[in-house]
Parts: sequence; C-alpha cells; structure tokens
Amino acid sequence: MKRIIIDTDPGIDDALAILFALGLPGVSVEGLTTVSGNVPVEQGTHNALTILEAVGRTDIPVAKGAAYPLRRRLITAEEVHGENGLAGLNLPQPSSKVHDLSAVEWLRHKLRTSLEPITIVAIGPLTNLGMLYCLDPEAFAKIEEIVFMGGAAFCSGNTTSAAEFNILVDPDAARHVVQSGVPLTMVGLDVTQKATLFAEDLARFEGQDSPLASFARRLLEATFAKRTGKIELGGIHLHDPLAVGVAVNPEIVQSKRYYLAVETEGEVAVGQTVVDDRPWSKNEPNATVAVDVDRERFLNWFLDVLTH
Ligand code: RIB
Ligand code: CA
Repeated sequence: MKRIIIDTDPGIDDALAILFALGLPGVSVEGLTTVSGNVPVEQGTHNALTILEAVGRTDIPVAKGAAYPLRRRLITAEEVHGENGLAGLNLPQPSSKVHDLSAVEWLRHKLRTSLEPITIVAIGPLTNLGMLYCLDPEAFAKIEEIVFMGGAAFCSGNTTSAAEFNILVDPDAARHVVQSGVPLTMVGLDVTQKATLFAEDLARFEGQDSPLASFARRLLEATFAKRTGKIELGGIHLHDPLAVGVAVNPEIVQSKRYYLAVETEGEVAVGQTVVDDRPWSKNEPNATVAVDVDRERFLNWFLDVLTH
C-alpha cells in the first residue's frame, strides 16, 4: 500500500488530482492538508471537505494550513480556477469538519507516529512544508519522499516568464524544502504542460456514473464552460494529477537527477527553479526532475482510473 498525504490548494486541477488519487488501486490517501494558493486557504479547505464528501470519503482527515506565505504577499489565481476555486461549480455545503490540528501540527503528529513510510504529494505552494521544516526538522526528515508539482526546469514559468505559480507564491518555503535533503521529485511545467486534457476527452465519461466519474465530469464541464483561465486555451493542463501519477508510478515520466535551487530574491527571476545541468558541475544532485512525459499514456491512465 502506498501511503500519501496531499498538500493542496484546491483548485480545479487539485480536485482532479485528489479524485485520481482516491481512484488509484494500492494507494491510501492518509489526509489532505490545505494551503493558500489558487484560492485563500479558507476556501481551499471548504473545497477539500466538499470534494471528499461528494465522493463519500469523509473518513479522510482535512487539516487547514497556512493562510499566507512565509514572507511574501499572497497571490491567488481565481481568474483561472473561478471565485470558489472549483470553476463556479454549485456544490452542497459539506457537513464534515476540518481537523482540530493545524496542517503543520497534524503533519508533525502523523510523521512522528506513523509506522509506515509516507510520501507527501505537494500540489500547491510549499508553505506548510517550509513551516514544518522550520518547526520540527526531525519530523520533516521522516518524510519518505516529497513529490511536488512546481517549478520549470528548462521552460518558461506560467505566472512570470521565470516562475511557476506554486513556487512563486512562496519561494522561501520552496527553498527550505529543496535544500532539506529529503528525497525530492520535481514535476514541473516541462511535463505538466504536455499533460493536457481536451474537451473531446470528456467523451470518456459518457455513461460513467461512479461518484469519482460524476464529480470529475461535472467539474470539467464547468471548467470548459466557463473557460476560466487564459492559459488553458484549448485544453486543461493536468498539472496536479500528473504529480500524483509520478508519486505512484515514477516511470510515467522520464526524469533525470539534477542540482536544484530556488531564487528567492529579486524581481525578474524571483521564484525561478534553477536546475544545474552543466556536465562539469560540482553541485551534488538533490532532486529527481521530470523532463518528459508521454501524454497519451498518462491521459489514458488518468481517464481509466476516473471512469472505472
Ligand atoms: O502552476 C500550476 C500549479 O499552480 C497547479 O498546482 C495549480 O493548481 C496551481 O496551484
Ligand atoms: Ca495546485
């Protein structure tokens, strides 16, 4: 059984990633921790509770995390995800409640008490993980691996020309995580921008009425209908679902080991993930970086899991 915790800022693609993880055989979603990013953490936490309730998984705890980045002013992305973070989808109020512990305290307790290894799939800004590293480095060091959706190794950013959204929101937290020494896999825009779902792919949901398929279909239909994001012309980049896929089956992408650093200062390049690919570099690699993906293979896997 692959035990994962998803740290998330739900968000349309976050919601799809959570549904994908719930549908994957052999995967146990141990909990969701929420963080401000696509939408403020209050809304993101509400969305996490709503998603789990809609698919009958209120057994999974949701712990609310950081409302603001460690240092910078919060930026959000309602223009992409809609004001409510879920493409304006009209959903019933969840009856389940958020966990009593904050995300960092819940992570700390979970990591210190778990007898099994736990992988953290981080699909939002890394504020919670940065805070955990500062508060309890011993607990942080118990993380089996962090697979994060973020950054751009050899392509432009999506929020500035240099920076991808999750890293730009909290580059200081990202720097803590990247230099922590915990096994790290970066699933950046180099691959997630190839994992595109097109309107015609919705046909795969025809006649599928499982809770996962129904929720995913409604969310995707709302997304295409509202065309909430200028960047998703023609399709929806499955940024976060690909990170879940890599955590469960690293072979779904081609990866290479590199030395990775995060720029936390400046204006033009703040939030850039700088990968050292110089053959003569003396920097020891500290991350596995995804560099290519077979779109068809991943989309088929993703759609198969959600429609069966
Ligand atoms: O840049 C894409 C990432 O930022 C995704 O995780 C998306 O959900 C947003 O958080
Ligand atoms: Ca996200």
